[in-house]
Amino acid sequence: MLQKKSAPPDFRTIDLAPRIATEIVADRATVLSGALSGEIRELLEQRGVVVVRQVNFSEAEQIAFTKTLGPIINENKGGVSKITIDPAENKMGNYIRGAFFWHIDGTMLPVPIGAAVLTAQRLAKEGGDTEFCNTYTAYDALSDADKAQIENLKVVHSIENTQRYLNPEPTYEELKEWQKFPDRILPLVWKHRSGRKSLVLGNTATYIVGMGQRESSALLTRLRDWATQPQFVYRHKWTIGDMVIWDNTGTMHRATQYSLESGRMMHRTQIGGEEPVG
Ligand SMILES: [Fe+2]
Repeated sequence: MLQKKSAPPDFRTIDLAPRIATEIVADRATVLSGALSGEIRELLEQRGVVVVRQVNFSEAEQIAFTKTLGPIINENKGGVSKITIDPAENKMGNYIRGAFFWHIDGTMLPVPIGAAVLTAQRLAKEGGDTEFCNTYTAYDALSDADKAQIENLKVVHSIENTQRYLNPEPTYEELKEWQKFPDRILPLVWKHRSGRKSLVLGNTATYIVGMGQRESSALLTRLRDWATQPQFVYRHKWTIGDMVIWDNTGTMHRATQYSLESGRMMHRTQIGGEEPVG
């Protein structure tokens, strides 16, 4: 006897910028159920960022939804991570200010974060947008000469580099704290199992192995400028309840400046990475 097939989920998509980011329009129950998770994973791979506006998930719903996308990382005793720079609410607030600068989450881990889900709980009056750039399309658009030059370069990544953005003249004691984290050496070009390639840059990228300081700094800065041109960027202006999901392996992101006392609060969940860089 033929099984009666359930109707395919009802949704539509809107591309938000030519080379990055797609919005999904569907009712919240459909999104929450996981019925669209296959489509969302495919969009994350192809478009880097997926937006669902004003879905207004509770903490439990955000966790349940994240689990429909892949293995959730247990960050905060099974809860969501509360992302705020307000020192009254977050002892790590100062460290999170590193998010004002372009980065990939988890470059200092053996395997970077696979994807992240961010929902807006409270907004800053000014600033606090989130910008994403597509490091696949930025790589693809490089000239053949640039691709050949960077093909096999390796980059040292360090916590020290991120901290120098916030504290350019550390004491020796502060420096020793930062240097407790071992550096990581990662390829500049991530050759994914899928066969696609993306750029690995961001605020942990310190210097290129075997290159002089000036040349290394010039190349890393030129590539970051390239990858973060408007043609590769989507900027999300948040409304409370919005959910933005990004493929952390093919994008960089940053928050635009907002004040310590703004009260901005986001809830974050993360999905484990599936492949190391390179
Ligand atoms: Fe981040």
